[in-house]
This record gives sequence, structure tokens and C-alpha cells, in this order.
Amino acid sequence: MATTRKELENLAPGEARSRGKQIQELLDEETVEVPWQLRHAEYTYLGSEPLDRDHYISQEWCDKEIENMWSRIWQLACFEQDIPEVGDHIVYDIVDWSFIIVRTEPDTIRGFYNSCLHRGRRLCENETESANKPEFRCPFHGISWNIDGSLKAIPPSIDFDFPHVDVEKFGLPEVRCEIWDGFVFINMDDDAEPLMDFLGDITKHFERWPFATRWKATHTAKIVNSNWKLAQEAFMEAFHVLATHPQMSIGLLGGDGSNTEYNIYDGGDANWSRMTMAPPMPNPNLPYELTEEELMEEMFFRGESVSEMGVQKMEGSVEDLPEGTTTRKLLADTARPNANGYVGLPPTDVELTSAIQYHIFPNISPWPGPIFYRHRPYGRDPDKCIMEIMMMVALPEGAERPPAAKIRWLGDDEHFGNIFNQDVENVAQVQRGLKAAKPPGGLTLGNYQDIKVRWHHRLLEKWVNREI
Ligand code: FES
Ligand SMILES: [Fe+2]
Repeated sequence: MATTRKELENLAPGEARSRGKQIQELLDEETVEVPWQLRHAEYTYLGSEPLDRDHYISQEWCDKEIENMWSRIWQLACFEQDIPEVGDHIVYDIVDWSFIIVRTEPDTIRGFYNSCLHRGRRLCENETESANKPEFRCPFHGISWNIDGSLKAIPPSIDFDFPHVDVEKFGLPEVRCEIWDGFVFINMDDDAEPLMDFLGDITKHFERWPFATRWKATHTAKIVNSNWKLAQEAFMEAFHVLATHPQMSIGLLGGDGSNTEYNIYDGGDANWSRMTMAPPMPNPNLPYELTEEELMEEMFFRGESVSEMGVQKMEGSVEDLPEGTTTRKLLADTARPNANGYVGLPPTDVELTSAIQYHIFPNISPWPGPIFYRHRPYGRDPDKCIMEIMMMVALPEGAERPPAAKIRWLGDDEHFGNIFNQDVENVAQVQRGLKAAKPPGGLTLGNYQDIKVRWHHRLLEKWVNREI
């Protein structure tokens, strides 16, 4: 592995990797069959050109995203489990648009524009509403529609004034709605490709980690003071751990995020990407050599570190462990009993110990693990976004799924949690810093570790320029 600038000269751009073991090398050490999904690990160098700051801060760019991308791309509206019964519905807002997503039959979910055909009022007001109602009745003058979008009634007292309305054709305009693995997507473009074509091979990857049977146990949202892409990109690379989250991985002893694997597919054209954070291993970038024994002692046997990592404190001492035990093996063993549903069978140590994070363009991040993110623009404001974190819990086989959590909005002084809060505060400072820069220069990305950020913007540019 390249370690010095001199050695870098012999490598093509994007070929260099950090010190220490890479994910694919860890997979070589697995004692169970390695699933093809983990070996499907493409990377393509996409150049080192500066990234335009305007993507984050310009109102003009923001408006172009809205007109050219959000108006015609597949996007997650809700989960099937949000609306389990016929008549259940939920409101999905994106920029100025609003949609009612409703279960019209036990196996059918449809979407309608949330706008009254009389004077245009929002029919359903509350985003978190998922109550079973037999109709959508406009609160302004009382015209109502059935859950399948057909007109139900114009109130008798005002019906005389609408002789020009063909009641058969006065249904609510529909938005395309397609489902994958429990996710309900919508698309305002009637000519868009089918959802499954848009998603591509990620659907095959998640056959190992199915989502449809998960339970949405929590759903928290917060208005964050950054562009939606900045907030999302906080989770597209792991080398910020070194400076932003120095408490992670036992004070960086167990790694600094620099040997994370980054994958983009089809030369960057696929609408999904992945990163896999390495499990705790003695950090090769420390100014001294740390042994596995020292790391295990710190991680499993010292009170303070143990509680910070959320791992089970072990009795005895590191000397009692069988020879050849490593931190990641020990962590895999402690994780195994609670891992069902988050790992395939038989589980690999990499699945048990590494954070594997996928992204689907433009704005969601499913993990094989329980965390799930969505990032949306906040209206037309390029300086704000809606960040959502959901916990998608795998239930024991045969267990009944409890009702899905409704969205809970955090106030200005409420936080997602310690690590997430560090990211939220960080991206707000990035948003300000981007505006503080001397124009016109752009942003200088890493060739490998920032590849998901570059992938994201490359696709975005294609949408904005109508090349897609
Ligand atoms: S605006 Fe909806 S009934 Fe008048
Ligand atoms: Fe972070």
C-alpha cells in the first residue's frame, strides 16, 4: 500500500489506498463463504476536477435541481408499513409539491397530488397523518374524493354552481407510485423508466438483507442548516472521523476511517453506491505501534472505553483469550447473537463488525444494519434541509410487527445524538464556509475517499443538464 508521496508517483490517480488492511483483504480471511455482494466492489476514477461550490449555495442551481431532477426522478415517499390498512394514507412533501400516498386495496398503494381541484387547497395537511379515512374532504368548501381518487361528492348546497364539472373526470391527478422491498417510491414524470430499472443491481444486493420485513421503530427529523447534499455527504465518506468524531473507535486507536472501502458502479452511472467502514483494528497511522492485545484490552476490558463503544465489558483479562484472537473476531462474536436480520447466513465477520452503507441517488441511504437516512431540500432554500434518521429493526422470525413509528420533528435545541450532532454542526459550518470562500475556485476532493461525493454530483449534473 502506498504510504509516501514518492510511492504515489508510481500509481495512477485513484489507485492509492490507506495503510492497513482493506475490506477485500479482510474478506480473504473469512471462515465462511463470502457472499458475492461483498465481493462486488467496483471503483472507477472519475477525475480530480474541482467541484463547483454553487451546487451547494446558489439559488439558481437549487432551482435547476428542482425543475430538472426532483420533478422527474424516483424518490422515496414512505414505507409500505406506514400505511398498513386500506384507507391509511400519509403525506409526502418535496420542495413545493405534496402527495397523498394511500393504500387503496390490500395490495395496492397509489399516490395523488395533494391539491384540491376547486381552489387548490392542500387536501391533507399533516405530514405525519396516516389515519384510516374513507375519503379526502377538502377543509375549504367541503368537496370530497374517494381514496381511489375519484370524486365522492360536491356538497349539495354548492353543487348547482358546477354544471360544467364532469363528475366522472373530476378525479384527483395521480402520481406514479412503485414499490421495492417495502419502500414506496413516487415519480412525477409519467415517462420515467420503471423503478426497478432505475434501481438496478442494488435490488439484488439487498436480497441478502431484505427490508420489507423490517420494523420502522423510530423516525426522527430535523431541519438542518445546510444544503441537503452536504448533510447527506456527511455519510458518504468516513475519513472525517479522524477530526470530527475523534471519540469513535476508542479514541482512534481502533482506526481513523481511512481504510474504508468505497464503491461506485458501472463507471459511476449506476444510481447507487456503497461504502464499508473497516472494523476496529490497530490504527496503522498512530505514531507508535499498537498491538491487537493492547487494542482488545482497551476495547473490552477497560471500563470507560467499553461504555463509549457500547460493547459488552468482558470479565478476566486479555491474557485469557485464545491465541490469535483479534479485536474484530472478538467483536464479531459479541455481535453475532443480536445480528439476525442484519446479516446474511452464514454471517461474515465483515457484516458483523463493519458499517456497510448504501446510497440510492438522489437522497436515501439504506444499510444492511438498522440505520436508514433520507435527506430532502427544505422548500427552495439552498441553505437548509430536512434530515431524517430511521431505525429499521429486524424482528425475530415469526414476531408480529408493531406499528411503524410516525415522524417526530426535533426542535432547534434537540439533537439526533452525540455523533450525529457532530455531523449536523459540522455541515452547518461547511455551508457557511462555502460562502466565505474567495471566488471563483472550486473544492478539491480526494480521488478515492471522496468518490461517492463526486459520483453524487456527477449524476446530479447529468440530471440538471437534462443528459438523463
Ligand atoms: S378549495 Fe377545496 S373545496 Fe374549495
Ligand atoms: Fe460523521
